[in-house]
Amino acid sequence: MTRSAGRTPTASTGRGASPGAAPSDAARVVVSQGRVNYGDLTVFEGIDLTVKDREIVSIVGPSGCGKTTLLRCIDGLTRLNSGTVTVDGKPLNGPMPGVSMVFQHFGLFPWKSVYNNVAYGLKLQGAPKEQIEETVPKYIKMVGLAGFEKSYPHQLSGGMQQRAGLARALAVEPQVLLMDEPFSAIDAQTREILQFELLRIWEQRPIAMLFVTHSIDEAVLMGDRVVVLKGRPSRIHEVIDVGIPHPRTRDTLSTPRFHDVKGHVWDLLMQEVIAAERQVG
Ligand SMILES: Nc1ncnc2c1ncn2[C@@H]1O[C@H](COP(=O)(O)OP(=O)(O)OP(=O)(O)O)[C@@H](O)[C@H]1O
Ligand SMILES: [Mg+2]
Repeated sequence: MTRSAGRTPTASTGRGASPGAAPSDAARVVVSQGRVNYGDLTVFEGIDLTVKDREIVSIVGPSGCGKTTLLRCIDGLTRLNSGTVTVDGKPLNGPMPGVSMVFQHFGLFPWKSVYNNVAYGLKLQGAPKEQIEETVPKYIKMVGLAGFEKSYPHQLSGGMQQRAGLARALAVEPQVLLMDEPFSAIDAQTREILQFELLRIWEQRPIAMLFVTHSIDEAVLMGDRVVVLKGRPSRIHEVIDVGIPHPRTRDTLSTPRFHDVKGHVWDLLMQEVIAAERQVG
């Protein structure tokens, strides 16, 4: 189900200065009637979600609504209890090459250097030595960690660890990138820098991306669409077409459209908070 925000202006169809970044009609990821439960707890149900090639879909929703679980299902780490996930038309039966995830808490191996953390996915795929030697330094440089190849995660700041996690996910040159609150644990200034760096990296090589965040600003800045999960069990409450062309810059943050979409997402999430408070009261 895809709906535009009720009180937001009509979505823009033009995508501005980055023609390579226009989403294609090709569906990369399709979740159909997805449901997950842990024992008696049904986390989400009835999830229908399509992510197209060259599209960024942001996901917002209250803590515990199943955002991480949903990404894990698409990464093949967790199985749906009912429904299906397909990637490029193929049903998922476990982790699939071409799908890469940046974890909520960095997910680096503490005993591996930055170089070996970034090389990990390529080694797992059995990439030849020459490819690893060419690719790993490229992505370490791209995320601004050149010079830190031999450092271990405990020797890095949170922002640097997050950059290393991003380089590791990008190094396998995925077709689908799953980002689970990638910038939540870093300071506001670094976060803003990384948001725009990620957008620039994506504009150079636009792929299908799912971006989970608790920040409404970040969801609207990054996403072509914003999916709002709500309820218990959670469901897709609304899908908002952001309608802001790429490339996105700091100026995007002060456009009327950005404020409208942000306000709409805020209203949707506040309804949930007020409903939860009424239940408690
Ligand atoms: N392995 C597990 N076993 C049992 N319950 C789990 C497991 N993983 C997650 N849950 C439960 O599933 C629900 C959804 O968890 P999930 O981590 O997907 O939420 P989330 O939306 O990512 O939350 P947050 O915003 O806090 O990261 C929670 O109630 C959590 O306790
Ligand atoms: Mg989570």
